Amino acid sequence: MCGIVGYVGKRNAQEVIISGLEKLEYRGYDSAGIAVITENGLESAKFKGRLSVLADYLAEHPIKGTTGIGHTRWATHGVPSDENAHPHFNTAKTLAVIHNGIIENYQEIKAMLIEKGYVFRSQTDTECVAHLFDLYYDGDLLKTAFKVNSIIRGTYALLICHRDSPDEFVALRNEAPLVIGYGEGENFVASDIPAVLEYTRQVAFLENGEIAHVTADGVTVYNSKGDTVKKEPFTVEWTLEAATKGGYDHFMLKEIHEQPQGIRDTINTRIDANGYIKLDDIKLTKADIEKFDKIYVVACGTAYHAGCVGKYVIEKLAKIPVMCDIASEYRYSDPFVDDKTLVIVVSQSGETADTLAALRESKRKGARILSITNVVGSSIARESDDVFYTWAGPEVAVASTKAYTTQLVAFYMIALNMALAKGTIDEAGYFELVSQLKNTADLLEEMLKDDSEEKEVASLIKDKSALFYLGRSVDMQTAKEMALKLKEISYIYAESFAGGELKHGPIALIEPGTPVIAVSTQTALVEKMVSNIQEVKRRGAFVIGIGCEGDTLLKGVCDKVIYVPKVDDLLAPLVSVVPGQLIAYHTSLMKGYDVDKPRNLAKSVTVE
Ligand code: AGP
Repeated sequence: MCGIVGYVGKRNAQEVIISGLEKLEYRGYDSAGIAVITENGLESAKFKGRLSVLADYLAEHPIKGTTGIGHTRWATHGVPSDENAHPHFNTAKTLAVIHNGIIENYQEIKAMLIEKGYVFRSQTDTECVAHLFDLYYDGDLLKTAFKVNSIIRGTYALLICHRDSPDEFVALRNEAPLVIGYGEGENFVASDIPAVLEYTRQVAFLENGEIAHVTADGVTVYNSKGDTVKKEPFTVEWTLEAATKGGYDHFMLKEIHEQPQGIRDTINTRIDANGYIKLDDIKLTKADIEKFDKIYVVACGTAYHAGCVGKYVIEKLAKIPVMCDIASEYRYSDPFVDDKTLVIVVSQSGETADTLAALRESKRKGARILSITNVVGSSIARESDDVFYTWAGPEVAVASTKAYTTQLVAFYMIALNMALAKGTIDEAGYFELVSQLKNTADLLEEMLKDDSEEKEVASLIKDKSALFYLGRSVDMQTAKEMALKLKEISYIYAESFAGGELKHGPIALIEPGTPVIAVSTQTALVEKMVSNIQEVKRRGAFVIGIGCEGDTLLKGVCDKVIYVPKVDDLLAPLVSVVPGQLIAYHTSLMKGYDVDKPRNLAKSVTVE
């Protein structure tokens, strides 16, 4: 998710754009840039680093003009660098493009343009839009926008301006948000409301497929067929702070609701025209995969819990033994790692000290390193042999949610391709799981429409001193993640147990009224879980089940059941974790704690 601001009107465009981008920095900040149409043509500046680097430069080297576009980047394609920063330009630097999202068919477009003699300067997908505009531009910016919009595919919010069309710019939207800010003799377009609030509270959103032609006197919106679309601006009542959270009360809730889009973005650009998963950033060959006699997964916290699910998934699909270890333990355990070991390092931030140290220890022992991370160009990404980037966008809340589910998606996609390469899955099974995996985004979207049941559970547990989560097999890994979510933001002691382990000690903890959350999605184990639930019920526990729609057994033994959509057992962790995230969120809220910044914790633990 990047920050985007466009302006045309009577003010100094540079001031409006920089001020707007400052309100969007939470959306991405590894590089920033601006392009302004001036009496000298198109002038620009762009740098790797925080927005302040660009702002400091412009303070010394101001660009004067009243039409311009600006961008803060959260990298997906191409490491953070001056060259990869937006805006991107055509060869003659007469037009500038800024972009939020992913152009899914950029490789075929790039090949066609190179064929026509275009030279690319950056590693980004966005640059192909700049040259595409150049190819078709005949002086009519809007007409060119329609042509380009008919060619590109993917998620995109694009702003384009041209030196020869000095009093206008165009905006194109598909899946990535764009908001129009209506002023008097001036108009704005941005990726989010906070960027325009200083100047106007009259806004309207572009819908998918729409194109806006923006001048100082007005904004005309067209649908993809070229019909004009009447927009009814509404008045924003939010404070700036509320608007930064997209209207949600907290970043954590916003990020829980961003999970469907994060899953789509992480999957959709990695499915080729024939429906196969293509992992371009991973150079593992069939021979490499067959050479591995074991896999280690190493991470911390929530990333470790994703790894525990990943272990189960890779073993189930690719039939390779997998060990999953906590980075701070792994690095001092002298692990059995050599050149026949693949080490998968998982880290949202890509900077966690223990995880980075575990990576380096693994490399020293000769292992191949594959990392799963959410930050392009992070330390862990740079020191890995292969990288799978989750495209969840910046995760601001300390409690990780969308990073977790997109890390799970990464494991499913890696495991499926390993299984196909090894022949441990047939094509029919492969495509069925790929199809179901893609569909989970819609299932989550539907689940997130109503969190009343999770609120009710939160009200029941918020004053408890301890809470237990039960699960078997892959559900136990989900139980671990749910317990961590509750602990870290509501400060209630929570522990997860394997259902079959209760009678070996933990059941001594159960007394009348003890709340137990039982995760039970695995078809073959439901009856076993029912027995475990009966065991704790007999000691007075209050049991909330997390089960699959259609499972009637749980209803008969639990005090309450939250149902999640029925999916392949293997994919259940993607949907079953969401009630646990929401229960933790609402419990913390009801206890009056700082949901986004819980005590004692940092978003990224870059020290040991
Ligand atoms: C998760 O909710 C926690 N904030 C924490 O456990 C986190 O997952 C852990 O510190 C690992 O961070 P990373 O993914 O950035 O390496």
